[in-house]
Amino acid sequence: MKSCEICGGKGWVKKIVKDKEFVSRCECYRRKHVESLIDNSGIPPKFKDASIDGFITDIVSNNNSLEKAKEIANKFWENFINEKGQVNEIGIIFIGPPGVGKTHLATAILKKVIEEYSIRGIFVNLPSLFVQLNSTLTQGEDISYILDPIKTSLLTVIDDLGAQRVTHWTAEVLYEILNYRYNYALPTIFTTCYSLEPLSSDSSVSLKSRIPDLVLSRIYEMAVPVFIDGVDFRSEIISYRNRKKL
Ligand SMILES: Nc1ncnc2c1ncn2[C@@H]1O[C@H](COP(=O)(O)OP(=O)(O)OP(=O)(O)O)[C@@H](O)[C@H]1O
Ligand SMILES: [Mg+2]
Ligand SMILES: [Zn+2]
Repeated sequence: MKSCEICGGKGWVKKIVKDKEFVSRCECYRRKHVESLIDNSGIPPKFKDASIDGFITDIVSNNNSLEKAKEIANKFWENFINEKGQVNEIGIIFIGPPGVGKTHLATAILKKVIEEYSIRGIFVNLPSLFVQLNSTLTQGEDISYILDPIKTSLLTVIDDLGAQRVTHWTAEVLYEILNYRYNYALPTIFTTCYSLEPLSSDSSVSLKSRIPDLVLSRIYEMAVPVFIDGVDFRSEIISYRNRKKL
């Protein structure tokens, strides 16, 4: 790796203030720290380059839900720390059909928050988490080293909420994670393809049929719903690129 031109790779720089010499951290030190926080965040390689600025909002006309979602994403990272210097506890739940950019925006926000505030953040895809927990338990190992960072990180993204298997065990683990984050006022960003209907609803495509009431009730308080009703970007991207001559 190329050594830093400012500090020669030492990570410290000398400064002279009022004739006195001080040492302070070089900018490259913070950059490397942020890079390692992002590498350890669990963001999948596909989304390592996803950014809020790169979120296209004019893929189809007559749809301002993409523009609104992007605006909320920007507000979220800007207001991540409030005037009192505390982490703002209200998260986001992105709701919409497949391919509309929910995971793109959620990972882009997480990356931006890590870059801006140098905090530890975690991305977890919920169905994959349960597969991993299951195989860890089958090997007779403890799962707390997997669950603890998800519970305690300053920002956690829970991707594909509702797409996990629905069992007593998955319900208990979800409750453990979200009840912890709720009690410690830690913000969470969710993505889901399931609708967020009132607890009284009994629709089969509603989150209510996929997660326990105790968890859903907390999510209402923990996260602002953001509905994205665009088109499947995966199928639209070719005609978009042709139109824009990209
Ligand atoms: N508005 C957008 N601007 C730029 N890229 C986008 C946009 N929407 C989606 N994409 C890209 O399209 C692909 C699919 O998006 P993404 O995975 O975020 O969708 P999703 O809503 O999470 O879908 P699913 O519910 O199937 O997980 C990704 O490569 C993503 O980066
Ligand atoms: Mg997704
Ligand atoms: Zn340096």
